[in-house]
Amino acid sequence: MGINLLKGKKGIIFGALDENSIAWKTALKVKEEGGEFTLTNAPIAMRLGTINQLAKTCNAEIIPADATSEADLTNLFTKSMEVLGGKLDFVLHSIGMSPNIRKGKEYGDMNYEWYLKTLDISALSFHKVLQTSEKLDAMNEWGSVVALSYIAAQRAYPDYTDMAQAKAMLESIARSYGQRYGSLKKVRVNTISQSPTKTTAGIGISGFDAFFDFADLMSPMGNASAEDCANYIAVMFSDYTRMVTMQNLMHDGGFSGSGITYAIVERLSK
Ligand SMILES: NC(=O)c1ccc[n+]([C@@H]2O[C@H](COP(=O)([O-])OP(=O)(O)OC[C@H]3O[C@@H](n4cnc5c(N)ncnc54)[C@H](O)[C@@H]3O)[C@@H](O)[C@H]2O)c1
Repeated sequence: MGINLLKGKKGIIFGALDENSIAWKTALKVKEEGGEFTLTNAPIAMRLGTINQLAKTCNAEIIPADATSEADLTNLFTKSMEVLGGKLDFVLHSIGMSPNIRKGKEYGDMNYEWYLKTLDISALSFHKVLQTSEKLDAMNEWGSVVALSYIAAQRAYPDYTDMAQAKAMLESIARSYGQRYGSLKKVRVNTISQSPTKTTAGIGISGFDAFFDFADLMSPMGNASAEDCANYIAVMFSDYTRMVTMQNLMHDGGFSGSGITYAIVERLSK
């Protein structure tokens, strides 16, 4: 049961592919909390995914956009303001894709065209989203923009390859654009660094099960689920976090603060 935390707020949710997607869970939570939004994804993902089903449940319009295309983003923001009848209060960027990871390339054998594609889709698109919204003056004062990151931005993970650089860049964009947007329009910009989560993007990384289980043991509270993440995003869109900006917010059950946990000691003492 929602508590109308987001009543009257309007926004855009990027990245709901299927019911496991963090964006999918967020859409359901934002709806439950009284928010209204448009849904968007890359045209190809629309064909593969089941976004229509979500749109129906949430009574939301779908506006396709490749997040690397400035023209698509301009159309998306313009149409979203038309459909929702005004400027926006929140945007969720929940987008990640690495052709190198998809094709199983090792870090010592990167295809650089694909590397640039990884950065464009998974990081630069966040700047494009923010710049488009600024140029169209699409956000209300005290609006909130959130993107999703991973701790591989700070620490090395063998199979996360070029996505690690994409996440470092994403977090840097949140700081730089957060500074600009905060002073221009009191719009806050943050990234949430989420635990490993069993989604299409997550399980596509080789060795995912091992680092999912390892993170679970290394987090005193266990891994944060996609539902937990959706709850946190709803709070970040609410008026209760108006002065939080330019941050990378750890949402990981305590993983990032742990040196070792009782669960790991127990496991290794056997
Ligand atoms: N799953 C995890 O373990 C995990 C952990 C931390 C952070 N994240 C991040 O969470 C975010 C959401 O991923 P998810 O785990 O829900 O997986 P997901 O596969 O459900 O979502 C990824 C989305 O990115 C979209 N996308 C890809 N290319 C695009 C493009 N050019 N334009 C627009 N959209 C595009 C896909 O269609 C998909 O909807 C990503 O940024 C991911 O890196 C995931």
